[in-house]
Amino acid sequence: MSVTAAVDPPEHAVDVAAYRRVVGHFVSGVTVVTTLVGRTDHAMTASAFTSLSLEPLLVLVCVDKEARFHDAVIESGSWGVSILSVDHRRSAEWFAMKGRPLIGQMDRHPYHRGATGAALLDGAVAWLECRTDAIYDGGDHAIVVGAVLSALEGDRDGQPLVYHRGRYGRLA
Ligand SMILES: Cc1cc2nc3c(=O)[nH]c(=O)nc-3n(C[C@H](O)[C@H](O)[C@H](O)COP(=O)(O)O)c2cc1C
Repeated sequence: MSVTAAVDPPEHAVDVAAYRRVVGHFVSGVTVVTTLVGRTDHAMTASAFTSLSLEPLLVLVCVDKEARFHDAVIESGSWGVSILSVDHRRSAEWFAMKGRPLIGQMDRHPYHRGATGAALLDGAVAWLECRTDAIYDGGDHAIVVGAVLSALEGDRDGQPLVYHRGRYGRLA
């Protein structure tokens, strides 16, 4: 008897739409990850962001291999994370919009630059900057692990933007 066969689910045993609904119950914050390649800012709304390790300090973000941010972050080797506030809903929607123009994409979204050159959104509840430490394969996403270069809080009363079942919201 093959043990592997006993534990491996048949391919596509779980309906993808049902899977998306189920994982949508997991409440997350919302970030915009950014990187600078040459003089071009790349940015992407990402909720698959996680604190990974304290010793050493590591975080990770899962990046769709088809997103333009994927090649950009590999090329640059460093990136910023802005943890969005409830006031950033428009930014979250904009930086999630597929195929938006890269040039000028930051124009209506005030930011400052971190030490890596990454754009960090003004008014975020917190920011990190990272140097890419490792990239792992994660199916259609890449798991980009970053060594934390800086970590800063904004206004301590800042309310985070949250994402749940496909909708933006705030903490009650
Ligand atoms: C709330 C929310 C969270 C998202 N989280 C991620 C994520 O963690 N990783 C990812 O690769 N894409 C995520 N996306 C989708 C990307 O933001 C989107 O595919 C990307 O900005 C497309 O940009 P492009 O046209 O430059 O490739 C998320 C979208 C939304 C609305």
